[in-house]
Amino acid sequence: MADVEGLKREAGVTACSFVRSGMKLGLGTGSTVKYTIIEIGRMISEDGIEVVGVPTSESTRELAESLGIPLMSISEAGSLDLTIDGADEFDPKFSLIKGGGGALTREKEVALISDSMIVVADDRKKVPVLGEFDLPIEVDPELWSAVSDAIRSSSGVGSSLRGGTESPYVTDNGGFILDCKFGPTIVDPANLEAHILSIDGVVQVGLFVGLCDAVVMSTGSGVQTIINPAGRLP
Ligand code: 5RP
Repeated sequence: MADVEGLKREAGVTACSFVRSGMKLGLGTGSTVKYTIIEIGRMISEDGIEVVGVPTSESTRELAESLGIPLMSISEAGSLDLTIDGADEFDPKFSLIKGGGGALTREKEVALISDSMIVVADDRKKVPVLGEFDLPIEVDPELWSAVSDAIRSSSGVGSSLRGGTESPYVTDNGGFILDCKFGPTIVDPANLEAHILSIDGVVQVGLFVGLCDAVVMSTGSGVQTIINPAGRLP
């Protein structure tokens, strides 16, 4: 059996070859990019690089602080050179589902102000069509049921409130998460993203379209860096 943790570590660390001293970096959230953040901490303390990070979650903030990575807020940063983050799925056009860790809103804010975005993943995340992974939507806690109804009536898709109605999961922004069961049917993620964002009560949706420039993907036989030919990397 493949060592999943080892695959995550390989992808996370390999992506650090894109990191240069002087960069302002978006620091993603999750169990793969954790290894990127740990390696950046090592590059600061052992190699002497100087970078500043913008964390996409409180857990990433705590990890980065523990490693001595200088941090700033998204508004202080204004723009970023590079974001490195995980994904729950990526398709052949480098569109992503994100938000399995609940940090999709800040993750998208950070990705949107970055000159480029690199995803770290193992090959289980590579799919022909997005949607097998339930699509996370961050919603206003007052309106989660109305949003769920709107998605069912417009798309015929059911959703579940993350954590359940008794003890819903609460994001770092105070929102709730609906996990929507589209199945592997999301052939036009840009259109679906625009539709979901138009529903009253939606804060953000975990579809990332036109943002990912490369995927550093670990496999049982090594790491591949797959560059998006339509992306922004030279
Ligand atoms: C958090 C995310 C994560 O990047 C995504 O869930 C992948 O995480 P992992 O590397 O732990 O599988 O979108 O909101």
